[in-house]
Amino acid sequence: MVYQKNILLCVSGGIAAYKACALTSKLTQKGANVKVIMTENAMGFVSPLTFQALSRNPVYTDTFDEKDPEKIAHIDLADWADFVIIAPATANVIGKLANGMADDMLTTTILATEATVYIAPAMNVHMYAHPAVTKNMKQLEEWGYHFIEPGAGYLACGYVGKGRLEEPETIINVIQEHQKVDTFLEGKKLLVSAGPTREKVDPVRFFTNRSSGKMGFAIAEVAAELGARVTLVTGPTNQQVSDSHIKRVDIESADDMYNAMHEFFHENDIVIKAAAVADYRPKMVFDHKMKKQDGIWQLEMERTKDILHSLGQEKKHQFLVGFAAETKNPIEYGMNKLQKKNLDAIVINNVAQEGAGFGVDTNIVTYINKDGNEKGFARATKKEVARKLLYSIYQDMKDDQ
Ligand code: CTP
Repeated sequence: MVYQKNILLCVSGGIAAYKACALTSKLTQKGANVKVIMTENAMGFVSPLTFQALSRNPVYTDTFDEKDPEKIAHIDLADWADFVIIAPATANVIGKLANGMADDMLTTTILATEATVYIAPAMNVHMYAHPAVTKNMKQLEEWGYHFIEPGAGYLACGYVGKGRLEEPETIINVIQEHQKVDTFLEGKKLLVSAGPTREKVDPVRFFTNRSSGKMGFAIAEVAAELGARVTLVTGPTNQQVSDSHIKRVDIESADDMYNAMHEFFHENDIVIKAAAVADYRPKMVFDHKMKKQDGIWQLEMERTKDILHSLGQEKKHQFLVGFAAETKNPIEYGMNKLQKKNLDAIVINNVAQEGAGFGVDTNIVTYINKDGNEKGFARATKKEVARKLLYSIYQDMKDDQ
């Protein structure tokens, strides 16, 4: 999986820098194209010439040492990389990245890259356990960086504990496993609904809700990245899909969504209902704008169809996933919905929590499958949450086979 990949290895200044030499050597032996960035402190431990000889590529140490006038080196490297490994990552580098600092070749390149970044920390056991380091790592994890946890053992500072850079072979295995997982939805067809619905009162008024569509769009985009053929049925939102392979179907009302979901249901393998569907709509839709009158206006509302429930009744081979937006007793109410709607899994969203639910870019959810197995996902970007949910769905589908 690292074969013919462009791998940018960033080495920061810790004694474990010597292990990055073995990592470079192993990666190139496996057919990867490796380029190395070193911080100034890293050069105190190992010479750039060592990495140049092992990678057979120039080593980058200074943001302003622009060798090719046609290019800006850190941007060029950031775009070149299929993925990036920071090994060893010192507490200092982790702190800088968690705070958006960019004062050398390593940090400027990391800020500029859109590639997956793996961080393999190495430091003293007490430094690793310090709340500042824990907080910085959590922040980076929320932004989508992947940590390769240090091993426990004898540390160069004399302590025995957690903080030792993971062995090069293990780092490669972890990355290969993660890269493999990256196309686990290849060959699957996925249908996802997103956003709110609008229930018309008259030509100028409607009932709607606070859903932004962000979670459903994140699921659609990540599923497409993971290899699935995606159909996205969405209510009115400001969201755009960046992947032109996603088939987007725009609808307005709960009834429109019902029709669209049923139209595509049969041809899909995974169906996720992330939309916030109106439960009620005005019983009568007025053809003309209602004029205001004295006194109270009482509007009669009727129930919309429960789309998810109807899909649960029709389900054959599909893996059906619902969302439950709750403000109290989330697990209990969520489990009820899973059973009542005949779902394979439910994603429970406590919308009362800060950093979760409507409008925000992050989410905190609990995934529960029909066997009652529960997985809690800490606050993370909706894309990262989508990736974790899709991986859980994939694992449950595998177990069902
Ligand atoms: N849902 C649906 N059709 C509806 C209402 C809800 O398909 N008419 C789906 C939502 O897309 C979501 C799940 O059902 O996946 C749960 O939605 P939620 O609003 O949390 O729950 P309700 O079923 O509406 O129940 P309640 O109002 O009692 O919370």
